[in-house]
Amino acid sequence: MRLTGQVGVVTGAGRGLGREIAAALAAEGMSLLLLSRTGAEVNVLAEELAARHGVKALPAAIDVTDAAAVDRVVMHAEQHLGTVDLLVNNAATIEAREVPFWECDREDVWRVVETNLRGPLLMTRALLPSMVQRGHGRVVNLASRARAATLSGTYTGYAVSKRAVSLFTESLVEPLRGTGVVVLDVLPGLVRTDLTLSMPVWDDVTAWDDASATATVVADIACGSYDDRHGQVLDAPALAGGA
Ligand SMILES: NC(=O)c1ccc[n+]([C@@H]2O[C@H](COP(=O)([O-])OP(=O)(O)OC[C@H]3O[C@@H](n4cnc5c(N)ncnc54)[C@H](OP(=O)(O)O)[C@@H]3O)[C@@H](O)[C@H]2O)c1
Repeated sequence: MRLTGQVGVVTGAGRGLGREIAAALAAEGMSLLLLSRTGAEVNVLAEELAARHGVKALPAAIDVTDAAAVDRVVMHAEQHLGTVDLLVNNAATIEAREVPFWECDREDVWRVVETNLRGPLLMTRALLPSMVQRGHGRVVNLASRARAATLSGTYTGYAVSKRAVSLFTESLVEPLRGTGVVVLDVLPGLVRTDLTLSMPVWDDVTAWDDASATATVVADIACGSYDDRHGQVLDAPALAGGA
C-alpha cells in the first residue's frame, strides 16, 4: 500500500480506463474523488473500492465542463478527503458518427472539444494552486495519438482536443519545474472500452492493449516513480512490456 494517506481525483471514473485507474490507486491505499456524469456508476465503484481496500472513496456526478460544479466538487473533496496529491484527467468523449469533417455535426464536434479540453483545463485550474502552494502534486493527462483521425480523416474534434491537451501539458512543464508539481501525459494504446467500441474504424481489431498497463503506470506516477520524466509522454503498453 504505497499511497495510504494520499488523495487522488479521477475524472471519468465510472467505466473504461478511468475505472481501472481508480481501482489501481485504491489498491495502493489512495483515497479518491470519483467523477463522471453517470452517478450510478461512480456510486457503485466507490462502494466497491471502500469495501475492498478500506479507502475513502467519494463519488460525485458532475460534468467536467461545468466550471461552478468543478470548483464545488474540488472544495467538497478537500473538506472530506484532504488536500489532493494527484489529478487524473481521464474523462473524454468522441463524436457520435465516423464521418469526414465536412460532413460532421458541428455541435457534436464542439461537444467533444469542450469535454476533452475544457474539462482538463477546469480541473487542473481548480487543483493546481493548492499543489503549487504545498510544493507537492502530480497531474496526469490521458493522451491519444488519435490514429483514427489521421487514418480516416474522421473524429476531428477528438483529434484536435487530444493534441491540445498534450500542448497544455507541454505548456505547464517549464512553469512547474522546481515547484514540486509534476505533469505527465499517458498513452494507453488501443484499449477496448465504450469509446473505442463506438468507432467502426476499429471493428476488425482483435489485439487490444490491456487497460491494466495504463492503470499500473498511473499508480506508479502517483508513487513518484516517474517524477524524473516531468512533461514527458509515457507509453503505457511499452512500459508494461518492459520498454
Ligand atoms: N480507449 C482507448 O483506446 C484510448 C486510447 C487513447 C486515449 N484514451 C483516453 O483515455 C481516456 C478514457 O477513455 P475510455 O476509452 O476509457 O473512455 P470511456 O470508456 O468512454 O469512458 C469515458 C469516461 O468519461 C466520462 N465522461 C465523459 N464525458 C464526461 C463529462 N463531460 N464529464 C464527466 N465525465 C465524463 C464517462 O462517464 P459519463 O458518460 O457518465 O460522464 C466515462 O466514465 C480518455 O481521455 C481517452 O481519450 C483512450
